[in-house]
Amino acid sequence: MTPTAGRRDTDWWKSAVVYQIYPRSFADSDGDGFGDLGGIIERLDHLQALGVDVVWLSPIYRSPQADNGYDVSDYRDIDPMFGTLTDFDTLLAKVHELGMKLMMDLVVNHTSDEHPWFVESRSSREHPKRDWYIWRDAAGGAEPNNWGSFFGGSAWEWEPATGQYYLHLFDRKQPDLNWENPQVRKAVHDIMRWWLDRGVDGFRMDVINFIAKADGLPDTPAVPGQRFAIAFDGFAHGPRVHDYLAEMTREVFADRDGAFLTVGEMPGVTPAEARHYTDPARGEVNMVFQFEHVSVDHSPTNKFDYLGLDRLVLKNALYRWQEALAETGWNSLYWGNHDQPRVVSRFGDDDPDYWAASAKALGTVLHGMRGTPYVYQGEELAMTNYPFRIPQDHQDLEAVNYFQHVLELGGDEGAAQAGLAKISRDNARTPMQWDAGPNAGFTAGVPWLPVNPNYTWLNAAAQIEAPDSVFAHYRALIRLRHELPVLVDGDFTPLLAQDPQIWAYTRTTPHRRLLVIANCGRDPRVVDIGPEWTTADLLLANLPDTPTTSGSPRLQLAGWDARIYSADARK
Ligand code: NOJ
Repeated sequence: MTPTAGRRDTDWWKSAVVYQIYPRSFADSDGDGFGDLGGIIERLDHLQALGVDVVWLSPIYRSPQADNGYDVSDYRDIDPMFGTLTDFDTLLAKVHELGMKLMMDLVVNHTSDEHPWFVESRSSREHPKRDWYIWRDAAGGAEPNNWGSFFGGSAWEWEPATGQYYLHLFDRKQPDLNWENPQVRKAVHDIMRWWLDRGVDGFRMDVINFIAKADGLPDTPAVPGQRFAIAFDGFAHGPRVHDYLAEMTREVFADRDGAFLTVGEMPGVTPAEARHYTDPARGEVNMVFQFEHVSVDHSPTNKFDYLGLDRLVLKNALYRWQEALAETGWNSLYWGNHDQPRVVSRFGDDDPDYWAASAKALGTVLHGMRGTPYVYQGEELAMTNYPFRIPQDHQDLEAVNYFQHVLELGGDEGAAQAGLAKISRDNARTPMQWDAGPNAGFTAGVPWLPVNPNYTWLNAAAQIEAPDSVFAHYRALIRLRHELPVLVDGDFTPLLAQDPQIWAYTRTTPHRRLLVIANCGRDPRVVDIGPEWTTADLLLANLPDTPTTSGSPRLQLAGWDARIYSADARK
C-alpha cells in the first residue's frame, strides 16, 4: 500500500493493484447463504494482508438480481441482500482507514426493467421518458433488426401494451438506455456524482463501449444457421461514444479535488480504439478491460464452443497489448473476473502436482507486465473451476439459456455440457474458500451456489501463514509492484516471442532492468537468456531452492518454473 515513490497523485492507479470482490460469493455475515457487506467488512484483513490498494465491488445496488445485480433498479440504494447504505458507509470508512480505495461497478448501458425509468418509459408512447430507452416499430411484422442478445435469442422484446419493441443487448430484463438523449446522460452523471460525494474512489464501467448505437440500427451480417447475431458493428464504439465519455469526465470529475480510477469494460475493443479511450489528452477513461486474451480458446460466435488452448496465441495477445499501449494509454492486466472461468483451470494446470506452481507462474507473467493488475477473489488462492457434472448445476442465466437453446435445436448436449463446464461464469462464482470448516467458512446457512469440494485443502486459512503458498506469492508480486518503479514505468520488450511455452520479457528504465521468465508447461526447458543476466539477482521464484543468480547464460527451467531477475541498468 505504499505508492511507488515519486509518483504523481493524479496517476496513483498506475502503481496500484485492484482486488475484485463479487459480493454475493465473498462472505456471508447473516447466514442467508448470500455474501453481504457485513461479510466483506469482517474479511478486510485478508485484503490488507495481501496488500492490494483498491477494492472493486461488483454491483451492490438494489436489483431484481436477474443478472446478479447487473440489472439495477435503484442506483442510489443497496440491495437488501447485501445490506444498507449505512453498512456501505461503514465499509467505505474501514476501507479508507486501512489505506485502500473503493471502486464501484457502474452499470449504465442498461437498467433493470424494474427501474422506475423503464416502468415509466414502457407506460405509454407519449411518456416523457419513452425516449430514455430504445423503442422501435416492428419491421415487416418482426424484430426491427437481426441483432442477437448476449444471453440468447433476439435483442428485441415485444411490448404488446404499446405495440413496439425495446432493445436489450443482454437479458430482456436489462433494457438498453438511449444515450443519445441528453437527459439520460445527465441522470448518469448525477448518479456518479452522488457516489463520489459519498466518498468512492472510482468506477468500473460495465460494457461502456456499447452505449452509442449505430445510426439507424442497421442489420449485422448474418451468421450462417443463426437467425440473430451479436452485432458488434452496430453497438460497439458507436458514433458518439468518445464524446459521451469525454463529456462524462468533464461533468463528473473535472471540478473535483483528487484523482479517480476509471476503467471501461469493453468487449471487442481493439488496441487502436483502446489508445483513443485511454489517451490522457482525450480525458475519457484511465484504462479498459480488453477481451482478446480471454477469447483465445473458444469460438468467436459461441463462447461455449471450446476450441482448446494455443499458448502462443495467448501469449502474443497480451504482448500485442503491451506494445500497442506503450507510448499512449494504459493497460489493465487481468486473468479472471466473475465472467471468466478460473485461470488456473483454464490457462494453468490444476493437476495437484502443478496446481500451485502454475498459478504462481501465471501470476508472475501477468504482474510483471506494464499496466494495472487486477486480482479476482480467490485467484490469490488459486481457486479452481467447479466440477460441474449436470447442466442443472449451473445457475447463471447465460448458461441456463444456452443449454435450453441447444436442447431446443436438438444440438449436441454432450458438447454443450463440456463447454459449459469449461467456460461457464458460475466457475468463478462459487463461494470464496476461507477455511476447512462447514461451507468453507463462507456461510452458516446454505450457500446460494455450491462450494467447490476442494475447499478442505484449498482455502485461505491454509495459505495465509504458509511461506510457499500461492497467497504468499501474490503478496510478494504486489509488494514488488509497490517497491519497484521499473514494474510500473519500465519499457516492455518481449524475448523468445515465437516460443509457445516460454514467456520471457524485460522491463527497463534508465536505472534498472528486470527479466521476467516462466516455463508455462510441464516439460523442463533450457533457455538461452544471454550473458547480461548471469549475475542478475533473483527477486522472486515460485519453486523451492532456485539459485540466487542464474550463473550461466543458459537457464534450466523446471515445469512451470517462474522467476524475476533484477539488474542495475547502468552496469
Ligand atoms: C458485463 C458484466 O461483467 C456481466 O457480468 C454482465 O452480465 C454484463 N456485462 C451485462 O451487464
